[in-house]
Amino acid sequence: MWSYRNPVHLQFGLDAFDRCAEFIRQRPYVLLTYDHPLFADLAKRLAEQAGAPLLVIDDVRENPDIDFLRAAAARLHQANRTVEKAPVLVALGGGSVIDSAKCLAAFAGDFARTLDYLEGYSTAFSALPIIAVPTTAGTGSEVTCWATVWDPANQRKLSLSHDLLYPEVALCDPHLGRSLPRSLTIATGLDALSHALESVWNTQRNPLSLHYAEMAAKTILEVLPRLVDDLDNLHLRSRMLQAATCAGLAFSNTRTALAHNISYAITLEQGTAHGIACSFSLPRVLRWAVGHAPDIDESLSRIFAVTVDQLADVGVARLEALLDCLGVSRELADYGLDADGWNHLVMASAQGARGRNFAGQPCME
Ligand SMILES: NC(=O)c1ccc[n+]([C@@H]2O[C@H](COP(=O)([O-])OP(=O)(O)OC[C@H]3O[C@@H](n4cnc5c(N)ncnc54)[C@H](O)[C@@H]3O)[C@@H](O)[C@H]2O)c1
Ligand SMILES: [Fe+2]
Repeated sequence: MWSYRNPVHLQFGLDAFDRCAEFIRQRPYVLLTYDHPLFADLAKRLAEQAGAPLLVIDDVRENPDIDFLRAAAARLHQANRTVEKAPVLVALGGGSVIDSAKCLAAFAGDFARTLDYLEGYSTAFSALPIIAVPTTAGTGSEVTCWATVWDPANQRKLSLSHDLLYPEVALCDPHLGRSLPRSLTIATGLDALSHALESVWNTQRNPLSLHYAEMAAKTILEVLPRLVDDLDNLHLRSRMLQAATCAGLAFSNTRTALAHNISYAITLEQGTAHGIACSFSLPRVLRWAVGHAPDIDESLSRIFAVTVDQLADVGVARLEALLDCLGVSRELADYGLDADGWNHLVMASAQGARGRNFAGQPCME
């Protein structure tokens, strides 16, 4: 017996962003985005179609932390008091923007209540609706119901999670990714690959999550190396966005696993971009994943186009070659780790919630 659930209304296609006004449905809206001329232009385009926003929060930075979220939530909470109809949050950006929107949507910006919920002091929950417009092809946050909250002061990462945080609508418009530079195309694309693979070697997998994950991983292995040398190619951008969203649909039902849990300490300590921190270890984790469950092995063999017997050598080599061709180091030292530090990190990560999702068996270096 298995079940699969994802309630997000997905609109995919060129110019999907221009349908945003239609989905706002004359509600007041709060726009969240980055402080960057590209996004100011998009905000202007939206205002021409949907009218002026109730509030614009355009200072979202990478990896939203508690201090930023508290200040932004206060602005939303204040603005919310001035309208009778509940506003909808439009998140125009990558995972940092969509995750920020989820944190602000919670309790309509009453951040003290969000913190109580995050720390496990309360279970009641409410949230404003969200329209997610991803501008990276990576996190899949447009189809998940959780947000990463960074707490650098305490060297930890929290996860805000509730069914009400699924975006109402995800508008996936491949045009929006064309401005992504090479380095961000690589980091975000590898994040999506990591979601797909982590959803395969996952104790929570089901046939549908495996199907989405396979589609995503196969596409990324084929498309990402071509896209990084042809950044303006709209067809390849479109395939990557579709793959990232598919990976999101897969891990929306399984969550991630060991490689993600390993990544958080590296991002907190070294400032490594999320997509690099959660993908440099994938060849090692793949080797540990092989041989523990026939359906996982078969799925991985289809992804890497090798026999099950070849997975641990040829399959792993294929993944290593991908990282090498994208210029992503696989050396522990480049992530501030020696063999002891790595072994310690792997053991600690395997015991965390995401680590326990890993269906394989880690080995020491
Ligand atoms: N909720 C989830 O399910 C989930 C999953 C994975 C990661 N995350 C979180 O998402 C965050 C990472 O998100 P991300 O990788 O999408 O990047 P991001 O949102 O942090 O953005 C990275 C950079 O890309 C720039 N950028 C974004 N879109 C652009 C575009 N179209 N053109 C030019 N520049 C653009 C931004 O200005 C920013 O400087 C991390 O905080 C991570 O923890 C969340
Ligand atoms: Fe991720």
